Amino acid sequence: MNKARFITFEGVDGAGKSTGLEWFVAALRQRGIDLLVTREPGGTPLGEQLREILLHQPMHAETEAMLMFAARREHVEQVIRPALQRGTWVISDRFSDASFAYQGGGRGVPLSKLEQLEQWVHGDLQPDLTLLFDIPIEVARQRLDNNASLDKFEREQGEFFVRVRQAYLARAAKLPQRYAVIRAEKSLDEVQRQLADIVASL
Ligand code: TYD
Repeated sequence: MNKARFITFEGVDGAGKSTGLEWFVAALRQRGIDLLVTREPGGTPLGEQLREILLHQPMHAETEAMLMFAARREHVEQVIRPALQRGTWVISDRFSDASFAYQGGGRGVPLSKLEQLEQWVHGDLQPDLTLLFDIPIEVARQRLDNNASLDKFEREQGEFFVRVRQAYLARAAKLPQRYAVIRAEKSLDEVQRQLADIVASL
């Protein structure tokens, strides 16, 4: 029997990750795969409370990084690991790569500190596959502008997202066996074709 997979979705705000995730999950369910969909920051009652604070409260960049990983500690222990152990696939809307991109690339928290937190929180657990929705920042910004209420991250300036995107791409280049980069500026049909290829390869 196939081992349960841990799959994460990443990308800058406005890349179309959530729409892609819905489509991908529906395609897996159609194949009869037992799966759980979750998100970060969040995924547990405490994690969701931390999410409220993280998305709305200004704070030091390292406080932000530590709270992201604190929420993740709960998520890994209470949700992700138990699901994988009982054979349920886990699809997470963001995971640690978002901390490397946003807190690392975006806010400038040193990589070595993030690596220590990662090692501490889930040293023995990594996603089997990460779908990175990559898109030019100007296009992502245009998509976001149509949205009414923006959170703390979404209100950041364009240069912040340029750094976030670069950090994601650098990580994808460093870990090519885990990453699938989706060309997210393409039409919905084309993005779905890219996702269908990935589903077929699983
Ligand atoms: P997001 O997936 O964009 O939620 P929504 O689609 O509901 O807006 O995630 C919320 C924000 O949290 C996003 O701007 C990225 C940020 N984030 C970090 O900065 N670091 C992290 O480790 C995680 C998981 C998210």
